[in-house]
Amino acid sequence: MIKKVAVLYGGRSGEHEVSVRSAAAVMDGLKQLNNLEVLPVFIAKDGTWLLHGNRVAFLPDPNIGGLYLLEGESAGQVLTVDVVFPVLHGPYGEDGTIQGLLELARLPYVGAGVAGSAVGMDKILMKAVLQAAGLPVGEYIWFTATGWTQRKQEYVATVGEKLGYPCFVKPANLGSSVGITKAYNSEELIAAVAEALQYDRRVLVEKMLAGLEIECSVLGNDDPLASLPGQIIPCNDFYDYRAKYLDDRSRLIIPAELPPETTEKVRELAVKTFTALDCAGYARVDFFVQVEEGRVWINEINTIPGFTAISMYPKLWEASGLPFPRLLQKMLELAEERARQTASLKTEYES
Ligand SMILES: Nc1ncnc2c1ncn2[C@@H]1O[C@H](COP(=O)(O)OP(=O)(O)O)[C@@H](O)[C@H]1O
Ligand SMILES: [Mg+2]
Repeated sequence: MIKKVAVLYGGRSGEHEVSVRSAAAVMDGLKQLNNLEVLPVFIAKDGTWLLHGNRVAFLPDPNIGGLYLLEGESAGQVLTVDVVFPVLHGPYGEDGTIQGLLELARLPYVGAGVAGSAVGMDKILMKAVLQAAGLPVGEYIWFTATGWTQRKQEYVATVGEKLGYPCFVKPANLGSSVGITKAYNSEELIAAVAEALQYDRRVLVEKMLAGLEIECSVLGNDDPLASLPGQIIPCNDFYDYRAKYLDDRSRLIIPAELPPETTEKVRELAVKTFTALDCAGYARVDFFVQVEEGRVWINEINTIPGFTAISMYPKLWEASGLPFPRLLQKMLELAEERARQTASLKTEYES
């Protein structure tokens, strides 16, 4: 039987372009698998969903079982979908919103569910959950736009005393370094907060963590595995949007050259992070590692990491013995496994 996989890409996010590139690689890889048909669903920046130029939609009704065609010759008909593969980075894609729609529609989908996606996307909630699980995250403070307007001087003083400079200012929900600034003094801090508040109502300020930037890929559902870790060497002052996507001088070292015990610590923390955040399918966990001191800090999780053929996530699996098409195959299987688990749960209660 031919399996129909709907790949969702583009999206209403600052990471739209990155998603388009990741999806191109994913669709290329999926085409190498047998018995599989790819339905490319492009989500425009205004949120319109298009399949080959015609508007389509997933509806919350769990009996539909696929994409509802809104335009074109077959308008009004439904195209059956077996698995949905969201390749959407950032808000309205990686944050639980699409996952919620797919849960309602009862369609299997690749990656973390609603809670894992939402908490993984929100850097403030993510750190709170990781701290509660006893996992190592750096120091930070956070505030809302309203709080900042009312108590700006207080927050600036706290940053000076508690975090020091340089510090990192980030919108709570975003990725690809959009809206992130490394601030070297209080004036830059104030400008950086104004910048971050353009992207989110909530902002966090983090203490700078020195060390190597190490990333680790995780794959699985309730018994996930970690890949070998890799290292990023950014070409800029930090791994900003330019260093990630526009300038090809950033380097990846795969696998990272770490002492064996540090490699193990990273892999163990990657799995613990994945589990603490109730992720599913796959995710990439990013760290700062101080090799001499043997210290490992969790920076963040990405529940839909960059996925071009040269991105860290698939490259780490390749280095760990799992080539790109087999990785995709495994991700589809995990999606179906999770959907079966969900379907087997009781939804009615007898008194
Ligand atoms: N606390 C920190 N200390 C040192 N570098 C940081 C810190 N936070 C972020 N960075 C730098 O900024 C980059 C982007 O930050 P990150 O939190 O990973 O945001 P994104 O979700 O956009 O990838 C990191 O890859 C790293 O280079
Ligand atoms: Mg990052």
